[in-house]
Amino acid sequence: MTPPLESQPRLVTLEGGEGAGKSTVLAALRAELERDAPVTCTREPGGTPLAERIRSLLLDASHEAPCVQSELLLMFAARAQLVCHVVRPALERGDWVLSDRFTDASYAYQGGGRGFDMQAIALLEREFVGIEPGLTLLLDVPVDVGLARARGRGGMDRIESEQEAFFERVREAYLARARSRPQRFVVIDASQPAADVAAAAVAALRAYRSRLA
Ligand code: TMP
Repeated sequence: MTPPLESQPRLVTLEGGEGAGKSTVLAALRAELERDAPVTCTREPGGTPLAERIRSLLLDASHEAPCVQSELLLMFAARAQLVCHVVRPALERGDWVLSDRFTDASYAYQGGGRGFDMQAIALLEREFVGIEPGLTLLLDVPVDVGLARARGRGGMDRIESEQEAFFERVREAYLARARSRPQRFVVIDASQPAADVAAAAVAALRAYRSRLA
C-alpha cells in the first residue's frame, strides 16, 4: 500500500484564485525567508524545463483543449517532475522551498472547478507526489474582484478564460480544504491593498516558523 503523505515543514505553498495578487506576496515571502536561510522558489505547473513545456501545453488556448482527465494528469505529470528534480533535492539540501501553487490547486481547479472526483485526486497525490507542505497560505478574494484584476493585466490564458461560476467553485473548494486542514492553512483576505496582503502573509510565515523552532 502507498504510504501516507509526508508533511514537509520547510515546504511553503501559496494558493489562490485568479487575480489574488500572488506575485507581490511571493516576493515578500522570499525576502523574509532569505534573511537567514537558502530558499528555492518555484511554481506550478512548471519549475523544470519539461514541466514548463507541460505548462505551455496546459495554458495555451490556441489548440485542442484537454479533457478534464488529461488536464489533471498533465498537472500531475508536471508536479511529479518538479518534486523529483527540484523540491525533494532542495529539501534534502536543507533549503526552504516556496512554491507558487502545489497539489491544493488540483483539488481546487480540477476537483472543485471541473468536478473531478476528489478521491481520485487523492490517489494520484499519494502515488505521484507523496509530500505535502507544512504551511499553505491561501489568498482569498471575491471572484469578481480577482477576475477584474486579472482582466486588467490582459492576455487571459485558457484557464483564466473560464466562466465566473467555475471560479466560484474553485474558491469554495480552496476554502473547504482550508477549513478541514486548519493546522496547515492560513487564509488571508486578498481584497486588501497589496502591501497589507504581503504584510499579513509575512506575519503568518513568522508565526509558523516560531512554532517550528
Ligand atoms: P498561475 O500562473 O496563474 O498560477 O497559472 C496557473 C494556472 O493553472 C491557474 O489558472 C491555475 C491552474 N492550475 C490548475 O488548474 N491545476 C493545478 O494543479 C495547478 C498547479 C494550476
